[in-house]
Amino acid sequence: MLKPDCIERGLIGKVISRIEDKGYTISDMKMQTLDEAFIQEHYAHLKNRPFFPELSEYMTSGPVIGLIVEGENAIRGMRIITGATRFEDGTAGTIRGDYAYCSTKNVVHASDSPENAEIEINRFFGDRRLPLFR
Ligand code: PPS
Repeated sequence: MLKPDCIERGLIGKVISRIEDKGYTISDMKMQTLDEAFIQEHYAHLKNRPFFPELSEYMTSGPVIGLIVEGENAIRGMRIITGATRFEDGTAGTIRGDYAYCSTKNVVHASDSPENAEIEINRFFGDRRLPLFR
């Protein structure tokens, strides 16, 4: 998912180029502005963290773009090119390492497992279910 700061800062093309340069295929994409209910579900595991209100406000502040990225070991590979969650740990050459300046506005979200990817794709794309792409 390309987060609101990615769209606001005009980084869509740069981030998508990195995904394509890596050799992955983008098989679907959709722009939408998320609501509070979506964020409560998407980040349910973080709801008791002190930064959750800031995270929720930011993630509903403008449109995001959901991408379905396909390729060999795409989930692991996307996590690698995304880079560290905390911006201060960001490695140069990763998306967050090169573009993020804080841990909230950190440009992209990447699913952490096939199970979560399926849940997140279905939540984001609604009626376009994963089996369509298998
Ligand atoms: S943790 O900290 O390991 O339990 O959390 P994790 O599941 O790896 O991801 C945390 C997500 O919350 C976003 N976020 C922050 N993380 C840490 N510190 C601060 N202050 C913070 N603010 C927001 C972070 O970007 C992760 O988002 P996603 O989209 O899942 O990568």
